[in-house]
Amino acid sequence: MILRTVVELRTQVAAWKAEGHSVGVVPTMGALHEGHLSLARVAKRDCGRVITTIFVNPKQFNNPDDLLKYPRTEENDAILLATAGVDTVFAPRVEEVYPAGFVTTVSVGGVSAPLEGALRPGHFDGVATVVTKLLGMSQADRAYFGQKDWQQLQMVRQLVRDLNLNVEIIGCETVRDPDGLAMSSRNQRLTAEGRRKAPALYAAMLSAARQFRNGKPLDEVLAQAKAAVLGEGFDSVEYIEIVDADMLGPIIDSTRSLRMLAAAWVDDVRLIDNIVV
Ligand code: PAF
Repeated sequence: MILRTVVELRTQVAAWKAEGHSVGVVPTMGALHEGHLSLARVAKRDCGRVITTIFVNPKQFNNPDDLLKYPRTEENDAILLATAGVDTVFAPRVEEVYPAGFVTTVSVGGVSAPLEGALRPGHFDGVATVVTKLLGMSQADRAYFGQKDWQQLQMVRQLVRDLNLNVEIIGCETVRDPDGLAMSSRNQRLTAEGRRKAPALYAAMLSAARQFRNGKPLDEVLAQAKAAVLGEGFDSVEYIEIVDADMLGPIIDSTRSLRMLAAAWVDDVRLIDNIVV
């Protein structure tokens, strides 16, 4: 069943809670792939009832062309979600989420400033605003996000802590194609040639992480990874960095968890990825 309004969603969730069910929400922008479905399956394992939201949030697109080109496949998405055991799809119209007169922006400091935050001005404010709204609309007990968007996940955790939101955030493993490419809705836009080149990013990251762990200096490891990606036919590398996994800042203490994050362009498509170091 696809619900379009907040009133319908709230009524459904209230009925479930009255029956004693816990409620999980999986926020998505649609164009679903196995990565999203794996989130839905984990949610279904943990929660009595699961909602998936499908909303292509205009506020998080800093590039209008990217918003226009974003794949929209709602009918197919609803079929896939039903097979993953999702109980309800919430797919509101833009006016339902941002009615006339809407003026609030949620902005999370710290973890959202570097990397994606620096390169995509306004992106994380858009994400934080819509996630706050979706959590408030759904009143879910748990919300599921992919580790594929590592910085986003850390930002959502910070947001929930800072605003005392009554929801548990669950970060789920990145799902990869057999050749290592992290699943993403944007992969649909790759040509056959781009798709062939795309796994080089993950391969270069794995190799860099290994070399760093073996003691090779950080600058050398990162420069080599960038060169490898460009050598495999990527158009450009926006960043490949190793950072503190929780704070997303420079490594201050190598005994803390570290994460390598990358963003690079191939075939006119921007890919992001991250791995444990
Ligand atoms: O990760 C996404 O798909 C989006 O950023 C999210 C969390 C659904 C917010 O629009």
